[in-house]
Amino acid sequence: MSLRVILLGAPGSGKGTQAKRLAASRALCHLSTGDMLRGAVRARTPIGIEAERFLDAGRLVPDDMIVGMVRDRIRAADCAAGFVLDGFPRTVPQAEALDAMLGEVGTPASGAIHLKVDPEVVVSRIAGRRGCRACGTPYHVDYAPPTVEGVCDACGGAVVQRADDEADTVRRRLGVYDEQARGLIDYYTEKETLESVDGSQPLEAVAAAIEAIVDRWSEG
Ligand code: AP5
Repeated sequence: MSLRVILLGAPGSGKGTQAKRLAASRALCHLSTGDMLRGAVRARTPIGIEAERFLDAGRLVPDDMIVGMVRDRIRAADCAAGFVLDGFPRTVPQAEALDAMLGEVGTPASGAIHLKVDPEVVVSRIAGRRGCRACGTPYHVDYAPPTVEGVCDACGGAVVQRADDEADTVRRRLGVYDEQARGLIDYYTEKETLESVDGSQPLEAVAAAIEAIVDRWSEG
């Protein structure tokens, strides 16, 4: 059975880290709207040029822009066997648009997993977060450092800090998340497809909890 997993959670809750692991363990497509947008900014595409000011300010890019990007990826051949959504949906209109596009292809979402993490943990994680500029592998200066400082274990690329991880922008991103989160959690609670995981646990424990949920969805 193909899996269509949605990861929800605040900035720094571990969505990207866990989405990469789950996608690798289940041979799923990892769809990170943040990575897509940062890639578009780097490539100076029309969407990237338009999105850049929203990313730099820590604000959400408009729903229609993001929905179009996700629709294209979900329909791509490499996502036919299933996917993990990381950072999408982020608003109720995005969740409704996702349901509509999955309805068009006749394959509903398997469910949504909410990574719950206290705000102070999230702030410390983001402050120490680093990532590979070339392949995107995530690191943390304390919890998950690369073997050689500044060098990616996976590809040898430069390990750097993200532009929107500066303190004021992080505060704005957390505020934006708080504004939208309740509606999104209620949306999936009402659909009875929401599971919660304590995202404050060590990486391996969070991964195991997610795998157990996905095992259940696979069997169902
Ligand atoms: P996006 O890239 O999606 O960022 P985000 O949601 O703010 O999430 P983060 O990437 O900050 O955190 P994460 O939950 O992935 O945590 P991570 O695994 O890295 O979005 C960026 C911007 O793009 C938005 O502000 C917006 O402008 C735009 N955008 C994106 N999607 C959009 C949408 N749908 N609509 C509109 N606009 C959109 O972990 C963080 C750190 O903690 C890492 O260093 C990691 O190593 C470490 N860590 C992770 N888990 C653990 C653990 N269990 N224990 C210890 N350390 C851990």
